[in-house]
Amino acid sequence: MGLNSHTACLSVLWTSHLFLLTAGYSTVNPRIILTAPQGEKRFHLDKNESLTTLYLQKPSLLLVGAEGTLYSFDFERASRNTEEKKNYLTFIGKFEDKLLVCGTNACSPTCWNGLDWNESSPARGLAPFAPNQNSLVLVDSPDIYSTINLHLHNGKIPRFRQVRGPKGLYTSDTVMQNPQFVKATVIKQDESYNEKIYYFFREDNPDKSLEAPANVSRVAQLCKGDKGGQGSLSASKWTTFLKAMLVCIDPATKGNFDWLQDVFIVPSEKGWKETRAYGLFSNSWGFSAVCIYSFGDIDAVFRTSKLKGYTANMPTKRPAQCLPQNHTPAETFKIADSYPEVEGRVRPVAPHHSPLFHNKNRYQKIGVHRIEARDGNTYNVLYLVTDKGHIHKMVETPHGILNILEIQPFEKPAPILAMTLDHEEAKLYVSSASEVVQLPMDMCEVYRNSCESCVLAKDPYCGWANGDCVSSTQVFPSDQACVVSLGDHAEQAVSCPLNSPDSFRNVTVEPFSRYYLDCPTKSHAATYEWRHNGSHKQVCSSAHRPCLLLLENVTHELYGHYTCVSMESGFTHTIVREWLLKRPEPSHTLMQKSQAEATSLSFWLGFLQMVALVLLFQ
Ligand SMILES: *[C@@H]1O[C@H](CO)[C@@H](O)[C@H](O)[C@H]1NC(C)=O
Ligand SMILES: *[C@@H]1O[C@H](CO)[C@@H](O)[C@H](O)[C@H]1NC(C)=O
Ligand SMILES: *[C@@H]1O[C@H](CO)[C@@H](O)[C@H](O)[C@H]1NC(C)=O
Ligand SMILES: *[C@@H]1O[C@H](CO)[C@@H](O)[C@H](O)[C@H]1NC(C)=O
Ligand SMILES: *[C@@H]1O[C@H](CO)[C@@H](O)[C@H](O)[C@H]1NC(C)=O
Ligand SMILES: *[C@@H]1O[C@H](CO)[C@@H](O)[C@H](O)[C@H]1NC(C)=O
Repeated sequence: MGLNSHTACLSVLWTSHLFLLTAGYSTVNPRIILTAPQGEKRFHLDKNESLTTLYLQKPSLLLVGAEGTLYSFDFERASRNTEEKKNYLTFIGKFEDKLLVCGTNACSPTCWNGLDWNESSPARGLAPFAPNQNSLVLVDSPDIYSTINLHLHNGKIPRFRQVRGPKGLYTSDTVMQNPQFVKATVIKQDESYNEKIYYFFREDNPDKSLEAPANVSRVAQLCKGDKGGQGSLSASKWTTFLKAMLVCIDPATKGNFDWLQDVFIVPSEKGWKETRAYGLFSNSWGFSAVCIYSFGDIDAVFRTSKLKGYTANMPTKRPAQCLPQNHTPAETFKIADSYPEVEGRVRPVAPHHSPLFHNKNRYQKIGVHRIEARDGNTYNVLYLVTDKGHIHKMVETPHGILNILEIQPFEKPAPILAMTLDHEEAKLYVSSASEVVQLPMDMCEVYRNSCESCVLAKDPYCGWANGDCVSSTQVFPSDQACVVSLGDHAEQAVSCPLNSPDSFRNVTVEPFSRYYLDCPTKSHAATYEWRHNGSHKQVCSSAHRPCLLLLENVTHELYGHYTCVSMESGFTHTIVREWLLKRPEPSHTLMQKSQAEATSLSFWLGFLQMVALVLLFQ
């Protein structure tokens, strides 16, 4: 089984031309649905896997940990390797410049250094005893943190602990109630002693009233330099733990998205305070919302907020304060340990303090890629995995979020088990139980019909140049390119050379021959119209498929330019442009005849094919 790069005929379905230019719009449907991606590469797994752990070792080289097998897929060279192990491989990561591969190893968690498998070590806290959704590992060499139990039978209460590092600190058993861990990250701050670990989780709601949700979503903080407590009981405990509630509420409906599903961290070149956490939430209906938080805001809440339930005066050394030299004073730790939640809640970033969007999809995972587009702006592109195994590609613009594309990555529709992004190469990797697929983020061929369709797609990876919709990573002279501009409204974004001769396909046709023009009709909701020299010629309802314009006898006045336009939701969109040019009449009459016959034959073959297609679709 080798690499199977399929270039199947793609079917693009235009759903709606309605652009969603307001934040928090409630039904964000993808504009285009792509059932067969373009430029993708795929490998098949040897068996149906229940668990896949993805790790990108270097560009195009993906390691996939699964049950009993470590796959190594080279997407560049289309080659693959597998190694067999009695194991669920749950963790692959880089630690002190070595590749660490860890797995359950039949209830005896083990790590191997590199891929030669002969240098193994017990994986205390690095791999669970059995596959487990609640295991999170955070590597920050030379330290490693984890939420995995160290022992099979005791220690059932989940903890966040340092498993490699000087102190082996862990959280007090009373500070979290039945936590489910989602994501952990280290945020470097201006002073090294202030460096912090943040982790995101859900836990049982202490508010047991009927109307309160069963779970609440949280962010917790710890100082990396925490020295533990001074007493014998507290010596191995984090003394800088505090937690806060994450708020993700739609202001219009007051609908609360309280279930944190996934988090993606987006660093900022403007400093740690601007680093963002993209939180993917769902509500009890199974609808989703994305709320964005800044670490500056999170830090401010922990630094300034009162502790919930604590009414006495705050000690001089506040709880959760990182100290350059000393241990946290015993009194401060005692208060923080008894009142581990702050009163203040963490709200989404300004100016709206509301979800980036919410809709009726049940998203499972989120990835964010920053791209510098041709219009000179940087955009965040969101990749959201639906429960049906589709990927929604969304662009954050100053006017709100645009759902520009739905990608169905697998040959057989299947849930996506894991996703990872290669930011440098602009590639997306997703795995199902039986396939692993590499997708280019810049799938511009999808919009290649015309300059307008390329620009209206509002895909910041793409631009129109030299008669093609091309990736902005390809060099093209910007004066000739028509740039995708997301800053403006849809109608103003089109900067195509609309009526210049360059945007037409030139076709030479003999006088008095037959000719037909074919306009693909992709949207069921649109009306299509053929225009000749700018005047109305023929209308097709959506029942006609495709929209054919038949010219029985191409007389002189039938030359000129033809456009097929679609009209939908107030948007007019030109799909085909053809310029019918007269073929210079040949002098030899005999040749003219045979040519006419040849034209006629190929014409009828093509036309019959079209008629067959029309019949097939009706
Ligand atoms: C995986 O499961 C599907 C059905 O769920 C089955 O059709 C397919 O043959 C299985 N593949 C392998 C490699 O076992
Ligand atoms: C692992 O085994 C290979 C040969 O099987 C050997 O060349 C290599 O030195 C070994 N590595 C270690 C660290 O023992
Ligand atoms: C959340 O609530 C559900 C019941 O709705 C419960 O089964 C689960 O244990 C709770 N806790 C977490 C952290 O998900
Ligand atoms: C089509 O022909 C015209 C001349 O009639 C020319 O200016 C234009 O560049 C041609 N377009 C393309 C796409 O080749
Ligand atoms: C096409 O039209 C021209 C001019 O009207 C006429 O002379 C010619 O016979 C027509 N050809 C056919 C095949 O109908
Ligand atoms: C359309 O324009 C072409 C030249 O571009 C001309 O030859 C033709 O006669 C025009 N036809 C009509 C109906 O305007």
